[in-house]
Amino acid sequence: MSTTPQTVAVLVGSLRAGSTNRKLAEQLRDSAPEGVVVDIVEGLDAVPFYNEDVDGETAPAAAQALRERVARADKVLAVTPEYNGTMPAVLNNAIDWLSRPYGQGAIAGKPFGVVGTTPTPYGGKWSHADTQRSAKIAGAVVVEDVVVSQPGVEVDVLTDPEVQAKFRSALTQLVEYTPETVAA
Ligand SMILES: Cc1cc2nc3c(=O)[nH]c(=O)nc-3n(C[C@H](O)[C@H](O)[C@H](O)COP(=O)(O)O)c2cc1C
Repeated sequence: MSTTPQTVAVLVGSLRAGSTNRKLAEQLRDSAPEGVVVDIVEGLDAVPFYNEDVDGETAPAAAQALRERVARADKVLAVTPEYNGTMPAVLNNAIDWLSRPYGQGAIAGKPFGVVGTTPTPYGGKWSHADTQRSAKIAGAVVVEDVVVSQPGVEVDVLTDPEVQAKFRSALTQLVEYTPETVAA
């Protein structure tokens, strides 16, 4: 089964330069299956907090750019750590912008997965569950199986072959997902 070529827009939940999740996203981009473009959407910190007063016929340039990048993609993958038991605000904010206009946001109908790691035994599972719920309410088609909450304890997630295989497999599953995948 192959649905390539296609583009997967990636939203990274961490802004810090040394982010492990960002490095994971870059690894996925660099090892993507042939024909698959992994487009890491930069500049989420430049997107202002969602405000209905500035969203309408026009939107702030950074929000508009985010919407266009995601609208152009076939699938969306969030790669994120967990902050205080949920997703980082920067990711939540991106999903808010992508969810509007209601029912017609850039994320509407896009197959959506979430992966990531934190240096705890839980690997960010609450963040990932909340991201799935939020994306679903925003109109995405959440691919329930495409979720990896990888604990970054006792393992180097950037080099461990089993961990690497898990992340790559999640990307492949998302790439191969079609609505018929589940209907079959
Ligand atoms: C404000 C804040 C809150 C955090 N809360 C959690 C948390 O609830 N659960 C968790 O597993 N890690 C938590 N962490 C640790 C992050 O998962 C850790 O910093 C992680 O490495 C960030 O990912 P990054 O390397 O991609 O930046 C928190 C970190 C920060 C800065």
